[in-house]
Amino acid sequence: MEKKQGVGITITQHILNQQRGNPDATGAFTTLLNELIVAAKVISREVNKAGLVDILGSTGRINVQNERVQKLDVFANQIIIERMQHIGQLCCMVSEENADLIEIPSRFPKGNYVLLFDPLDGSSNIDVNVSIGTIFSIYRRKTSGSDNEVPLSEVLQPGKNQVAAGYFLYGSSTMMVYTTGNGAGVHGFTLYPSLGEFLLSHELIKIPEKAKTYSVNEGNYHYWDDKTKALVDFFKARDKETGRPYTSRYVGSLVADFHRNLLKGGIFLYPSDNKDPKKPTGKLRLMVEANPLALVVKEAGGYASDGHGPILEIEPTELHQRTPLFIGSKKDVELAEAVMKGQTRL
Ligand code: AHG
Ligand code: MN
Ligand code: MN
Repeated sequence: MEKKQGVGITITQHILNQQRGNPDATGAFTTLLNELIVAAKVISREVNKAGLVDILGSTGRINVQNERVQKLDVFANQIIIERMQHIGQLCCMVSEENADLIEIPSRFPKGNYVLLFDPLDGSSNIDVNVSIGTIFSIYRRKTSGSDNEVPLSEVLQPGKNQVAAGYFLYGSSTMMVYTTGNGAGVHGFTLYPSLGEFLLSHELIKIPEKAKTYSVNEGNYHYWDDKTKALVDFFKARDKETGRPYTSRYVGSLVADFHRNLLKGGIFLYPSDNKDPKKPTGKLRLMVEANPLALVVKEAGGYASDGHGPILEIEPTELHQRTPLFIGSKKDVELAEAVMKGQTRL
């Protein structure tokens, strides 16, 4: 896709323009994304005032993944569910914060799309005023037109089936980055607070093919296997010819780390480790974190791997399954994958 839409158009116009090129478009998808954008604006407003009002701190509840739930996570989750359940385009939802499928109440009409989301990513950074985000992923259900309860098997689809994916980043500005896949490219919009509109600010984002930045929680070094250690040692080693050592950047909010690497180039990794025997395959969730960012990075010319193959090819078996993640600049991720597969020794 060539750049042609011009900087400054609204996200709504952009979605409409993209849908116009699709003969099957019914407007359902546009409605869906528009409502999600409204939810994100509400979350953005609350995030911005998080330091001002008494919304900080733990609710004392533990989420389905045994992590501390911050109040803003609960709020963001509720807002998305409430706003999205009534629009008539979804057959169900999946949230990082809910153990099971979120059904659409029977009083609302249903549609053929499934929305998966991480309502607030990077929640440990909420109370320190560091960037956080919302990640989303949209699929079409396998059997359309049915009003019945959605079986889990319809939702457990590989990432390559996503019809759209992206994220909202609540940073120094609020941004939305999204793709509808199939070569439509990745586009970024910045929220102009005084207008209340997302305007096109980053058209057709391309990630540099190779970079000099790595992002990883290196505090886990001693829990890694030898291949992972060798890979990170390689990034840190001195070698003028290949531009090493790389620079290290780690925010601790996946969305923020990913976004920086998307624009500037770099590799983010959250490998598996032996820190927690209950999480042998790493920390990040396939369906609500890895898959959507994998589609975005692919559309931007990058690559996402679990260390064995493409993230987008993984056939999920559980809603909340976790995966190792290597994502970012293509050449760097390909090298990481070759090392993890034992094809390349560093
Ligand atoms: P969430 O806030 O949705 O639970 O996600 C947190 C994730 C992700 O944002 C980040 O990359 C990672 O956790 C950081 O983990 P560590 O603190 O173990 O580095
Ligand atoms: Mn997350
Ligand atoms: Mn979260």
